[in-house]
Amino acid sequence: MKAYLCKEFGPIASHKIESIDIPTPGDNDVLIEVYAAGVAFPDVLVVQGLYQIKPEFPFSPGGEFTGLIKDVGSKVKGWKPGDRVIGFKGSGGFAEYAICNQFNIMPLPESMDYLTGSIFPLNYGTSIHAFKQRAELQENDNVLIMGAAGGLGITAIHVAKAMGARVIAAASEVEKLELCKEAGADEVILYSKDLSDSDDQKAFSSQIKELTNGNGVDVVFDPVGGHYAEPALRAMAWKGRYLVIGFTSSIPKIPLNLALLKGCQIVGVFWGSFCMREAMLNAKNFNELFEMHAKKLIQPKVEKIYSLEQTREAIESLANREAKGKVAIQIKSD
Ligand SMILES: NC(=O)c1ccc[n+]([C@@H]2O[C@H](COP(=O)([O-])OP(=O)(O)OC[C@H]3O[C@@H](n4cnc5c(N)ncnc54)[C@H](OP(=O)(O)O)[C@@H]3O)[C@@H](O)[C@H]2O)c1
Repeated sequence: MKAYLCKEFGPIASHKIESIDIPTPGDNDVLIEVYAAGVAFPDVLVVQGLYQIKPEFPFSPGGEFTGLIKDVGSKVKGWKPGDRVIGFKGSGGFAEYAICNQFNIMPLPESMDYLTGSIFPLNYGTSIHAFKQRAELQENDNVLIMGAAGGLGITAIHVAKAMGARVIAAASEVEKLELCKEAGADEVILYSKDLSDSDDQKAFSSQIKELTNGNGVDVVFDPVGGHYAEPALRAMAWKGRYLVIGFTSSIPKIPLNLALLKGCQIVGVFWGSFCMREAMLNAKNFNELFEMHAKKLIQPKVEKIYSLEQTREAIESLANREAKGKVAIQIKSD
């Protein structure tokens, strides 16, 4: 089979498509013929050895994918060859076949095609977990989403809107903000490409406050970090919840007195760990998400499709901050 293979950590361009044997499932595993796989920022990090999870070599990145079960291990219960599934396991999806533990798959709903299902688990799973369990989002809360035109950002707009919030989307390009409006954002803010200038930071805080009648936002959803974090925290409402999601810019250092002054919470969100520690609650979240999808309250969209041969290009588009919306690899057509 063909796979985008990482044999040792290194720059994205140092990994390439190679031919390897189709893997054999272990007792608790299923073998999936992959149809599509979502591309996400962890793919940028994992092949360079910069991610918190370091898979064994050789591995293919691609933590979310869809396909057909081709074979099952001797201890697998409830799954059989021919089942349409969504896999979520951190890596393995950028290949023609992937192995997945039976507990890291869920049925692909009838209402979803393979491409749509492949971009569903990571970002929708993270967004609902962040807003429900970590922020306890209330209807009409003001939510600021940073990096809002990224794969996760667009999803966060969908989920926050479906939960009844008012969404302010922030991003670095006018074209990205157009995408945020299409996704349902109520208001948008254009920020600069690095926000290192203190006047720009103050202007960002002021814009957030202006859009909330001076009160500030109840929830910040932050997958970016860097120089964006502190001005966003300074523009929080009393008892706000600041969701620490990721660091595409860099890991910021925050003056903790701000949390005291705002009476706010700075809350960590780690969906991968939540899936393992609280599998039942995660399954409940997904039942809710599939219902929202069936009612068209959330409408996942792949903004750009790449072939397996173009995997390197797809990952680089995220690393270079060029990607707009969600990117996916189509490996086999429906
Ligand atoms: N905590 C969790 O459980 C969890 C789950 C999934 C993902 N994540 C994290 O969430 C983050 C976003 O993932 P994603 O898949 O949505 O990524 P993405 O599609 O590449 O979007 C990330 C956004 O970050 C912004 N950005 C700011 N500085 C950047 C830089 N130096 N390089 C690249 N992008 C930069 C860009 O928006 P602007 O240009 O508009 O600023 C970009 O659209 C990642 O850090 C990922 O690891 C966390």
